[in-house]
Amino acid sequence: MRILALITQKGGTGKSTLAASLAVAAGQAGERVAALDLDPQASLTHWGQRRDADFPMVDRTTPAALAAALGALRAAGYSLVILDTAGIDSAATVAAMRAADLALIPARPSLADIEATRPTFSALARLGRPYAFVLNQCAPQLKSGRVADAVKALKLLGALALPLIALRADHQDAFAFGLGVTEHEPNGKAADEVRGLWQWANREMKE
Ligand SMILES: Nc1ncnc2c1ncn2[C@@H]1O[C@H](COP(=O)(O)OP(=O)(O)OP(=O)(O)O)[C@@H](O)[C@H]1O
Ligand SMILES: [Mg+2]
Repeated sequence: MRILALITQKGGTGKSTLAASLAVAAGQAGERVAALDLDPQASLTHWGQRRDADFPMVDRTTPAALAAALGALRAAGYSLVILDTAGIDSAATVAAMRAADLALIPARPSLADIEATRPTFSALARLGRPYAFVLNQCAPQLKSGRVADAVKALKLLGALALPLIALRADHQDAFAFGLGVTEHEPNGKAADEVRGLWQWANREMKE
């Protein structure tokens, strides 16, 4: 059972949105997925409550209960757990960092977001846990100078997951409907990007 966590102490970067769509995309690719919400804000939990499909399993947990929850999921045969965390430094963030086989750090292509990744990747580096940045909410043409600058900056700080994820209404609509983007608009660009991101993370966790 592998554990993929979405972590950064900056709010609104896309942790819950990507956690939801990655959970769906991984499930469609054959993984048996559980999505665990460590954020008291409970966005991912509410997304799960809006779903009709019987996958992924979505549940809330706390840092104190995480190890037992992961043990139960492993025993039940889950192959992948996706952890969503709060946009603040908390006990849950540290618990997710310690548990994760790979931590994805979403950042928007802005100086403020990129600067805000530092405490997260520094803590992951200190703990010796693998991490990669996800550049999310990029201008859809993906060629703006700001996106290019953000790519350069993040590559200096660590690995950059690919592809870049554009700002697309599909993400907002899918989340509102309790869907992943690959369910909401399977042939859309947002779906292609999320499938690509899952493939990237999957390869990375196998290495
Ligand atoms: N690629 C995207 N395209 C369009 N909108 C996006 C994208 N990613 C995230 N959003 C939107 O940005 C907002 C913040 O996203 P989300 O709630 O996933 O962030 P978060 O990191 O989980 O925030 P928090 O730290 O508060 O938990 C939401 O309105 C979401 O719909
Ligand atoms: Mg969130």
